[in-house]
Amino acid sequence: MSTKIYFIALLLILPFIFTCSDNIVSECEVCTDEQQTGTFTSFSDIQQNIFNNSCVSCHSGSSPSGGLDLSEGAAYDNLVNVASTGSNLQRVVPFNSSASYLFKVLDGTDAPLMPPGARLSQARIDSVKSWINRGAAND
Ligand code: HEC
Repeated sequence: MSTKIYFIALLLILPFIFTCSDNIVSECEVCTDEQQTGTFTSFSDIQQNIFNNSCVSCHSGSSPSGGLDLSEGAAYDNLVNVASTGSNLQRVVPFNSSASYLFKVLDGTDAPLMPPGARLSQARIDSVKSWINRGAAND
């Protein structure tokens, strides 16, 4: 076969290659949605998927924002049954998300929204809420 035929065959195959890669992209979007609709049940899931991605840029280091270090290994001890600096609420009250300042800042209705100006997806906020309401275990 001449190289011409190979070239024509390649041209014919190209659209299918692009169609396939479109499918791969949309499959990954489905994965992300699945993750966002409720697989963040343990504290380590929340740490990995929420705090590490959306919070530690401000909440880590030698003078973390709000005096709150959310980096891995430090976050739990700085949250559960610890008084907040910006309100007279505790940051996390086990079994009680509505008394927990952490939930209030994620919700942003009567506390400064976190992350500032970029509300998390409702599924992510709900993951933190139900982790608190299940007892805020270090799991
Ligand atoms: C761009 C920087 C920035 C990011 C990102 C950010 N925060 Fe904040 N956070 C602040 C600042 C600044 C404060 C201090 C209060 C204020 O001035 O609004 C604060 C305060 C807080 C407080 C109150 C602490 C206390 O004891 O009063 C909590 C809880 C909090 N943030 C949680 C989070 C969480 C959870 C995330 C990620 C989902 C996050 N923040 C992302 C800057 C940030």
